[in-house]
Amino acid sequence: MTTIAVIPGSFDPVTLGHVDIISRGAKVFDHVIVSVLNNQKKQPLFTIDERMTLLRESTKSLQNVEVDSFNGLLIDYVREKGANTIIKGLRAVSDFEYELQMAAINRKLDDNVETFFMMTNNKYSYLSSSIVKEVAKYGAPIDDLVPPIVEKALKKKFS
Ligand code: PNS
Repeated sequence: MTTIAVIPGSFDPVTLGHVDIISRGAKVFDHVIVSVLNNQKKQPLFTIDERMTLLRESTKSLQNVEVDSFNGLLIDYVREKGANTIIKGLRAVSDFEYELQMAAINRKLDDNVETFFMMTNNKYSYLSSSIVKEVAKYGAPIDDLVPPIVEKALKKKFS
């Protein structure tokens, strides 16, 4: 059986913490689909296309990783893709409560789909897209927080 996993998120923008989870997930599953949620109420900094391009560039060395976007319920998308697993990264205990709730509702909606949690690498445990945007906005260095292409894109956005 081919194992297909979906890594969903906002990725506004992708960070090195995300890339760490994606590359580790790609070692465990045959095929990994990184998918950007396309209907958020909050105003993103990057468009869907920009976020997908940054993700594609940042994961281009990973042969079994595909980048996509989705609308609506994650579980419907996972089923549509023929996937059997959702991968989520956990940075700290504070992530756990929300992710437990998400895993529970997704299991209730379809108990054939597993949620697979991976602990974020310690060196990225404080990292989030929001923190990166805040730091970048004030011109502080972000080269060890995001892939080079994202650093360039953030500098352009805030120039
Ligand atoms: O990067 P984020 O913003 O933490 O990602 C959150 C995401 C996209 C994984 C989550 O909001 C999601 O799965 N949204 C799709 C809607 C859905 O299926 N919600 C759960 C059932 S109510």
